[in-house]
Amino acid sequence: MPGLSTNLIHGADHLHRVPDVVPPINIASTFRYESDPDKLIKVADREKFEILGTPYYSRLSHPNSEQVEASLEAVTGHHVVAYSSGLSAFYAALTHFNPKVIAFGKGYHGCHGIVQIWERNYGLKHIDLDDDFSQLNKGDIVHLETPVNPEGINFNIKYYADKAHERGAYLIVDSTFAPPPLQDPFKFGADMVMHSATKFFGGHSDLLAGLLITKSPEIRDKLVYDRLLLGTNIASLESSLLIRSIRTLELRVLRQSESATKLVKYLSDNKSKFPSLAKIYHGSLQDDEYIKEQMPLGHSPVFSIELDTEDAAKRLPSKLKYFHHATSLGGVESLIEWRAMSDKEVSPTLLRVSVGVENVEDLIEDFTQALGGSVDISKLSLKY
Ligand SMILES: Cc1ncc(COP(=O)(O)O)c(C=O)c1O
Repeated sequence: MPGLSTNLIHGADHLHRVPDVVPPINIASTFRYESDPDKLIKVADREKFEILGTPYYSRLSHPNSEQVEASLEAVTGHHVVAYSSGLSAFYAALTHFNPKVIAFGKGYHGCHGIVQIWERNYGLKHIDLDDDFSQLNKGDIVHLETPVNPEGINFNIKYYADKAHERGAYLIVDSTFAPPPLQDPFKFGADMVMHSATKFFGGHSDLLAGLLITKSPEIRDKLVYDRLLLGTNIASLESSLLIRSIRTLELRVLRQSESATKLVKYLSDNKSKFPSLAKIYHGSLQDDEYIKEQMPLGHSPVFSIELDTEDAAKRLPSKLKYFHHATSLGGVESLIEWRAMSDKEVSPTLLRVSVGVENVEDLIEDFTQALGGSVDISKLSLKY
């Protein structure tokens, strides 16, 4: 008798319309129109521009992108538009809302780079999340990244949703660091949610993708139409890899979240034994009440540490066995990045850690030896 999880994956196999267990990759860029001439309707005569269901050109949509969006709609309960990267999703969100002012504080440097393009080209005004929100007007944007890159600490979504809505502005939440099932920003007032699906949705460090999620079918249609013109649809191979990944999203993310929290607790409990370890940042070390509701199943699998000197930070990655020294996050393999390699703004003593699905005791042991700590692992009951 197969177990529940086996049935969850195989229970509907007999209903598949084609024998392939994995949907084939459709590489066509163009698709034949209706063969019956009487059924052909000029685009100018159509009441509604049909965007999904009958692919005709892959810049609009194709079978694999539609499979990604449909499966994520089932996961999130909302409308999902997939993009070629997280940054193209953020660019699409700005194009859609077309704000005059954006409030955006800490967050991914690439999103800040896009805001700078908009300041340069369109005169967008950029204020901080701590600035006076009376500068925001109807239709402007508050962009909140939570948990935030690179620290993995939380901001209160409801607080910023209320502040944005008081001014008639919209709240976009970049939830890349807390994918489903860890966080649902719509529950706390977000108007649009974005993800770099390159990270946890992809989960294997082998694809680039982005997502915008909206509750409104009209906004979904507008986003898809803009995407057609901007040429930023997700490609077929990436869609296919993403479909593969989505099947294990929950398994991976819950495991990564639990392991990251155990590793952070271990480092924090034993901090005095690691003389070079100056600071640890993670949502699990915050005690604000709202976090229990906002992140009910656990914390981000990403956290950061600071060492006492720049040199110590630069050398730590090379001492680790199970953490690749590389940028990005969210994959099944643990990564560490001396963040100064890719982010100009960050302290040169900071290292960002993305915890994978390896055995957590191996990860703890690896960190212990790399930090040169005097902790005798065998004497610790690793109930972490
Ligand atoms: C929080 C966050 N948002 C957006 C992005 C951009 O995503 P992509 O690299 O898929 O364009 C990243 C990338 O690291 C990120 O960490």
